[in-house]
This record gives sequence, C-alpha cells and structure tokens, in this order.
Amino acid sequence: MRILAIETSCDDTGIAILDVKNKKFTVLSNIVSSQKIHKKYGGVFPMMAKREHQANLVPVLMQSLKLAKLLNSPDDKHRVSGVSHRAKFKIVEKILERESELLKQLQPFLKKYKKPDIDLIAVTHGPGLEPCLWVGVNFARVLSYVWDIPLIPVNHIEAHILVNFLSTRSDLVDRFPAVALVVSGGHTQLILMNGVGKYKIIGETRDDAAGECFDKCAKILGLGYPGGPIISQLAKELKKDIYLQNRRSSTLQVQLPRPMIRTKDYDFSFSGLKTAVLYLHKDLKNKYFYTSKYRSIVKELCWEIQQAIIDVLVKKTIKAVKDFNAKTIILGGGVSANDELRKQLKEKIQSDMPNTQYLIPDTALSTDNALMIAVAGYFHRSDTKDWQKIKANANLRIS
Ligand code: KG4
Ligand code: ZN
Repeated sequence: MRILAIETSCDDTGIAILDVKNKKFTVLSNIVSSQKIHKKYGGVFPMMAKREHQANLVPVLMQSLKLAKLLNSPDDKHRVSGVSHRAKFKIVEKILERESELLKQLQPFLKKYKKPDIDLIAVTHGPGLEPCLWVGVNFARVLSYVWDIPLIPVNHIEAHILVNFLSTRSDLVDRFPAVALVVSGGHTQLILMNGVGKYKIIGETRDDAAGECFDKCAKILGLGYPGGPIISQLAKELKKDIYLQNRRSSTLQVQLPRPMIRTKDYDFSFSGLKTAVLYLHKDLKNKYFYTSKYRSIVKELCWEIQQAIIDVLVKKTIKAVKDFNAKTIILGGGVSANDELRKQLKEKIQSDMPNTQYLIPDTALSTDNALMIAVAGYFHRSDTKDWQKIKANANLRIS
C-alpha cells in the first residue's frame, strides 16, 4: 500500500510518500518546506502562512513524487480535452475558489502528469491554523477527486504520537496502556492510550503550550523565531562555559518558577513562566546590558527556561506513568526535538521505572512533517471518507 500524505497545519508545507508491505514501512520521500518568512515577525501570521502553502504545495508535491520515482513523465495522450474533462476541472475550480494561487499551479500540473501509483491520500484536517488547514484539505480533496484515490483525514496530534511506530515496524503488541506526552507550539497534552484510536487526554496546559513558552521567551530575549532551537543552543553553549561549570560559585544565579509542578493533576501552565522571564530579563538588562556579562546572563536565562519547562514536563509525565501503570512512554511534537528533554526523561525512566518502554521520534520527525501524517493514515486506513465530507477543524481534539 502506498500512502501520499499532506501537512499544512502551521508554517511547514510537507508532502511524504510511504510504502507499507507486510506491516513494514519504507519511506519513499518526506519533503518539508519550512516557511522562512515568519522569522522576521517572531511568530506565524495565518494568512501569510496560507499564501506560502499555496505557493509551496505543487513544487513540494513534484519533489516528493520525483524522489519516490512516482512522477510520471508528461504524456501528450493524457492531455485529452473533452466535455467530462472540462466538467471535472470546473469542480476543481470550485474546490479551490478560495485558493486561487494554488489553482494556478495545480491545474496545469494535473493536466500534464498522469495519476501516480498511490493507493491512499492522508491529510491533516486539524488542529492547527484554520486557513492553513483548509489549503491542505482542499488540495487533498482535488487530488482525491481527480485521481480517484480514497482520502483519510488525520489528527495532527495523533500523528505526532503515531510517528513513533515508524521505527518499530508498526508492532503494537504489548505497548498499552501508554502515556503520550505531546509538546508542540500549540499543544501540551498528556494522553493515556489504550490502543491506536483509544485516547483520553488526562492533562494539558491551561494557557500557553511548552513550545509557545520557548517561542515567547526567545522573543522577550530578542533571539528570533522559532525559540525552542535557539534557546536550546544557547543553553548548550552555557553548559560548556567555565562560568557555569561551577554554577554555585557564579556571581549570578537566575532562578525561575516551575509552575504547577506540585499539583496533583496532570495539567500544566507556562504563561507565568513567560511573565517571570519578562520581568527578570528587564531587570537584568537594566543592570548588565552594557557589560561583558550580558551574553552569559542571556545564556543562563536560556538554560533556566529550558530546565524549568523540562522539570515540569518530566515530573508530570512520570507521575502519569506511575498512576496509570503505563508500559510505554511516547514523546512527540516539536519540543520533543529538545536534546535535554529527551535525555533527562530517559534518565528518569532508567532510574525510576527501567522496565518502561520509551519511544521518541527521530529529531527530524519531532517537528511538523507529512511522514507522521502518512503513518497515522496507515493506522486509520479503513477510515476513508468521501472528499466532499472532509473539513478543516482548527480545534480538533484527540478524545
Ligand atoms: O510540532 P511543531 O513543529 O509545530 C506545532 O504543531 O506547533 O512544534 C513547533 C514548536 C515550536 O514552538 C518550537 O520552538 C518548538 O517546537 N521546538 C523546540 C525545539 N525544536 C522545535 N523546542 C525546544 N527545543 C527544540 N530543540
Ligand atoms: Zn505539530
């Protein structure tokens, strides 16, 4: 079975092609075009991201098909015009009436290239930024309709979890109950899993997501977007600095709160942490901005922001695993690319619960990509839906 998957929920345009034979996954292609335009604004503007997706989708599709050796050469005979052909493209125009820029590229592409050898199309339909989700959904609807290929709507959060089964050859035996920690730019959720499709959100953030906290703190510190990788990099540099090798003797000790770390539930809250960073940074900037110490102070802040977030995530995840007797811990979402989080959670599991399985995605598959959508599409392969019935849902929930 060959699955073509589409991801456009935020600022990454992704198209992947996955082949599955005898439960064995082979990645034929996984192209992600990350929109650079948002860097200078320090965040993602949905309408700007929608425009970028419209411009990127056809080139990314062609690249993905080419890499998978599925892009059929242009075929003159295929370019038959006729009443039914014209009627078909009238419907395509209707589907893409709000994505005219995409239509301009997609129509000639569909007229030029024959249907590729694909059995199933999977597309993210939520959660995410509504205009961005619609571009992907409408693109998928057109492909499904014109090529006559069944279509599956995929939940983006579920895909962040299920991508972990890519390396385990879809083997699900003896893995449940599992606790999944999904940490991304828009979500921070602890999900109890009793099988694929059997989910219960047991805890989540009451305000900002962990990734959002990284992004907002980076903005406060004037470090750029997205904040997670930059903060993580500066924290790493600090670790190497002699200045921190003996942190106790350092002249300055930055301390931030660990919000909700002691509460009995599995919820999180990160907006207070961001506010604490705002005030602390203001203070430190006033004192040290023109001194040689300022750079180290920013690094120390980065280290402490990262550690405060990790402490809370690890504490609540371990608590959930113990309380629900979980056999497996699954990590997913953009923040799961964070080396320290991966490492510290692993160390805690090894010391406190060594028999628990620990699944983490390749760092390249932590952040948004379409391969995770393909994997989720595979697990839901029998849930195909008529293309006309698939809609974007910005607030889609996993349970
Ligand atoms: O899953 P994702 O790619 O997009 C959403 O679905 O939101 O997650 C993006 C988030 C951003 O907030 C980004 O700052 C964060 O993941 N992120 C990281 C790292 N890489 C990406 N956070 C911490 N450390 C990283 N290395
Ligand atoms: Zn995501």
